[in-house]
Amino acid sequence: MSDGDGELEARLVEQEEFEPSDEFVEQANVSDPDIYEEFEENWPDCWERAADLLDWEEEYETVLDDSNEPFYEWFSDGTINASYNCVDRHVENGDKNRVAIKWEGEYGETRTYTYQDLYREVNEFAAALRDMGVEEDEVVTLYMPMVPELPIAMLACARIGAPHSVVFAGFSADALATRMNSADSDYLVTCDGYYRRGDALDHLEKANEGLEGVDHDVEATVVVDRLGDDGFGHELAENQHDWDDLMDEQRGERVEPVERDAEDMLFLMYTSGTTGEPKGVKHTTGGYLAYTAWTSHAVLDLKPEDTYWCSADIGWITGHSYIVYGPLALGTTTVMYEGTPDFPERDRLWDIVEKYAVDVFYTAPTAIRAFMKWGSKFPERRDLSSLRLLGTVGEPINPRAWKWYYKHIGDEECPVVDTWWQTETGGMMITTLPGVKNMKPGSAGPPLPGIDARIVDTEGEEIEPGRAGYLTVNKPWPGMLRTLYKNDERFIDEYWAEYSDEDADEWVYFPEDGAKIDEDGYMTILGRVDDVINVSGHRLGTMEIESAIVGVEGVAEAAVVGGNHEVKGEAVYAYVITEDGYEGDDEMRSRIIEGVEDAIGPIARPEQVVFTPELPKTRSGKIMRRLLEEIANEEELGDTTTLRNPEIVTDIQAKVQGD
Ligand code: WT7
Repeated sequence: MSDGDGELEARLVEQEEFEPSDEFVEQANVSDPDIYEEFEENWPDCWERAADLLDWEEEYETVLDDSNEPFYEWFSDGTINASYNCVDRHVENGDKNRVAIKWEGEYGETRTYTYQDLYREVNEFAAALRDMGVEEDEVVTLYMPMVPELPIAMLACARIGAPHSVVFAGFSADALATRMNSADSDYLVTCDGYYRRGDALDHLEKANEGLEGVDHDVEATVVVDRLGDDGFGHELAENQHDWDDLMDEQRGERVEPVERDAEDMLFLMYTSGTTGEPKGVKHTTGGYLAYTAWTSHAVLDLKPEDTYWCSADIGWITGHSYIVYGPLALGTTTVMYEGTPDFPERDRLWDIVEKYAVDVFYTAPTAIRAFMKWGSKFPERRDLSSLRLLGTVGEPINPRAWKWYYKHIGDEECPVVDTWWQTETGGMMITTLPGVKNMKPGSAGPPLPGIDARIVDTEGEEIEPGRAGYLTVNKPWPGMLRTLYKNDERFIDEYWAEYSDEDADEWVYFPEDGAKIDEDGYMTILGRVDDVINVSGHRLGTMEIESAIVGVEGVAEAAVVGGNHEVKGEAVYAYVITEDGYEGDDEMRSRIIEGVEDAIGPIARPEQVVFTPELPKTRSGKIMRRLLEEIANEEELGDTTTLRNPEIVTDIQAKVQGD
């Protein structure tokens, strides 16, 4: 924990209250305030309500099995298939012609998949995977941009019981290789490229480069042809197959959904932690699907007849849970957009909302801050009156941005849900139920029914309202991660070691966020308390970036911190010591930036690289990151008396301010 309580206190925000309209409450999926009490009294059986949203092959008898804490199991004697629940059952229930996915490409081309279309393509691709030799429980890596083939591939994997590991397309070749190696994945589905602000990007080149770094034999790669004539003319290697060719071969094939145990792995998702090595978060089938369906129903208020749009990328957990699994499990129409919010113009998102008459819209505070900066004239150009509910996720949203969103996008009619959760939690944990609770800008809200989140001090004791402390979750929930892939020990160290009392068998989950609670039980999340930074809602480990920088020739040492950024929330600041004989010049700076892009991807690109002969260190030799953050933010510096080399501080400060 690198933050002191004082610093957390300083991030507290003013509060004010907003009520959902009667009109919203009347139609809300959940509007009975007793739900909180009901869940508490009936815990853990309350979670049957989530599981009831799904069709089980074999009904479960046990809701929660806690015989091996903290390796909790949910609905463990039940069996289920996620693909069946997201696709087949809607077709069987007479909704085959309802739209499942509305896709819009960057140039405005559209593709519409009804549930019947989805059914056909998921089956055909499942058959193709089988033919390539993919067996149950083999991890298939999906390194794909926002094309419809991505959710199709995910659901095809789920159909045959092959867990997927989606790697965000913006990640580098190295990042792909690391994840394929870690997951021992022998199969890759990727894409020739995609469009960004009017340019075709070569994705296959990166994928191929990544494949070169894989330390085992890769059986087969499938390549989606997104670019057509704009493609880069790569020849496919012998074990590389064109998506369309495979689908042609499998035309009309059907694959029985495999009966999966509820606790069988549905997917792996790599995320950043305190150490340099990404963590493979394991989610399982029954609990995850029940939890994402339940929160999509209760929080996003999704109805089958809705058109719903989450503007995240499927390469992150938000897209897994709330573009693909949650909405499709409920039989909703989910919108997918390939491009960026400012292409060709800054009203692109509002253009899409208008065009498809989107009912529910879910985005990130970083996007909202960009919209604010661009001005209200862009949303004003479009008819946004179809909207019923707005959501945000990924980082704290300040009251000013919240109110802008509420007013300029929601016309003061739509409730806003500020949803706190993480890759590890699988789904939303802390937020208002929009049909039940008032909203307080800047505060996510109370924990959802059945979620036992608390704010504690360093001893794990609950603290009084208004004071900054640490967020903990004191009871398990169905959407929780089950472990870190092949690393049970790290799972316990990372999430349970801090606040659990193992001897007393009291297990407490620690998400590594600071927070405070108010008199009404509303929680305000104050940000990470570990060495993880949040750039545009994307989680990056400072250690990962540091090790990429140290890998650059001529770099002796590096320290990376997050500095405040108007739009991104946080931006990467790198303080670098060069080796003897190397200059901290522009050339070095470009090599460092390139090194970070190669190791992780452009999202981790440093905003500033500051060369310094020394880093501020305590007498015990620890880099004082707090100080480096203060310097990045041009704030007044806190205590420097414990430093071994206090004189270096003014020197670094001058460099940052001079830039
Ligand atoms: C971290 C998790 C959940 C999907 C996107 C990010 C921060 C997330 C909020 C929110 C304040 C938030 C936390 C959390 N965070 N939502 N509504 N208010 N902070 O998933 O990459 O796993 O990052 O994002 O710090 O720990 P992730």
